[in-house]
Amino acid sequence: MSFSSFSQASDLPAWKKLQELYDASGKNLSVKEQFQSDSDRFAKFSREFTNYDGSKILFDFSKNIVNDEILKLLIELAKEAKVESLRDALFAGEKINFTEGRAVFHPALRNQSNKVLKVDSQDVTPEVNRVLAHIKEFSEQVRSGAWTGYTGKRITDVVNIGIGGSDLGPVMVTEALKHYASPDLRVHFVSNIDGTHISETLRSLSQESTLFLIASKTFTTAETTTNANSAKKWFLEAAVDEKHIAKHFAALSTNAEEVAKFGIDTKNMFEFESWVGGRYSVWSAIGLSVVLYIGYDNFEKFLKGAEAMDKHFTEQPLEDNIPAIGGLLSVWYNNFFGAQTHLVAPFDQYLHRFPAYLQQLSMESNGKSVNRANEFVKYSTGTILFGEPATNSQHSFFQLVHQGTKLIPADFILAAKSHNPIQNNLHQRMLASNFFAQAEALMVGKTEEQVRAEGNPENIVPHKVFSGNRPTTSILAQEITPAALGALIVYYEHLTLTEGAVWNINSYDQFGVELGKVLAKSIGSQLDDAVAKVDNHDGSTNSLINQFKSWSA
Ligand code: F6P
Repeated sequence: MSFSSFSQASDLPAWKKLQELYDASGKNLSVKEQFQSDSDRFAKFSREFTNYDGSKILFDFSKNIVNDEILKLLIELAKEAKVESLRDALFAGEKINFTEGRAVFHPALRNQSNKVLKVDSQDVTPEVNRVLAHIKEFSEQVRSGAWTGYTGKRITDVVNIGIGGSDLGPVMVTEALKHYASPDLRVHFVSNIDGTHISETLRSLSQESTLFLIASKTFTTAETTTNANSAKKWFLEAAVDEKHIAKHFAALSTNAEEVAKFGIDTKNMFEFESWVGGRYSVWSAIGLSVVLYIGYDNFEKFLKGAEAMDKHFTEQPLEDNIPAIGGLLSVWYNNFFGAQTHLVAPFDQYLHRFPAYLQQLSMESNGKSVNRANEFVKYSTGTILFGEPATNSQHSFFQLVHQGTKLIPADFILAAKSHNPIQNNLHQRMLASNFFAQAEALMVGKTEEQVRAEGNPENIVPHKVFSGNRPTTSILAQEITPAALGALIVYYEHLTLTEGAVWNINSYDQFGVELGKVLAKSIGSQLDDAVAKVDNHDGSTNSLINQFKSWSA
């Protein structure tokens, strides 16, 4: 593997130089002072992305704790860690997910320019396009009302049943692009095994006008198959005859055999391939709920925006490569400043599920502790990503971001143009003023002198001091359009790749979620007997299970 010729990233010369620089001056670098001494700082440390439709997104990295020397060394680190080789191997369809023997080829799903893209020497583009054509045809039928339910009524409600990547992407994107949605069709998402989720979702729906999308790459995920069976049962309570399932259930999956076993006509199956990881699957058939909601043309724009960011990532030198810079800054904070977390705060209500989506993308990808050389890593990997839309989050956890003891690098996201410019755009101006003010306050802080000058009593002064120098990346889009959202997601995908490449871990498997699944299965069978006491676990687990049995009887 040309992209993995080292073992521990901390042994790379650039890492060592970064450590020396951090110890000598980096840790005390004042961003405020850097702005005072360098009038070009904004221009130097911000990058503009131009989308396929000419729209722009500005990435302002200048409020990060970096200077020319640090950025230069971070780029050197990326080169030594062969970030570009891993990137090129991914885009060449190589099996970089070596623990599962799979290619990681989701960019092929947004190959709107129809390049020949091969896995195992076979061009995958015709098959991707065939599925897209099927999605287009089906979605147009449903949206126009030509596709009707078993009593001839048009479909008014779509319920996507899936979990993890088969849920988070479609939920986030449908919410983010609600402005573009058809008012005639509602979308619902059921993911949790908790019966409340499906019960509450179905409560207001009618069997005659509901379409279920069973979204599961494997079609064996317990939550999804159980929820799908409950949906089928609910549907048949009214429809009675199993032949009606064909009009009301479609499958989004790689597993035709299990789909057929479930009783879904494979004509209503929208396929994708094993080289699409769950957390990278919103671009695939898993995005069908998105297409139904916003229409195929808008979905195409979403794919094109994503493709434009792929192009940027593959073609731009590291110095100007926006996702690479984002990933390298993350390494800088994680591994040198000891930051454990990363905050993503969209100043945009439509993006309210974006942090949840990014949590799976980032934490399932890079929550690994063994490197590509099969050794435990000697440094921290992964980042605890969290977030909520602002301004709400300002009134909850931002206190800790401003004055807590921890360094929390943050991304703030804003669209210049609101889809809802109500009250003569007053709301938008207030939202934007918070976006600017928060980043500024986090950087500038407030000194003792300033607090004293405000006339505060001496014993209160330390409580009102803000250390400042808390890093933020401000991401300013022109508008949250399908194209802009596509590009924004891919920014984070490739930022995650960059981190994983430097850390020399496999960002594309997820064995960590397996153990819990296996144990839950075996405990599940013990719960089938409501009274028999269990004694084969540890003391705590035995007692909890037995108490549960007695209370739920
Ligand atoms: O929870 C782990 C996981 O494997 C995710 O990676 C995936 O997105 C999710 O389960 C759902 O899997 P599937 O689409 O196969 O049901």
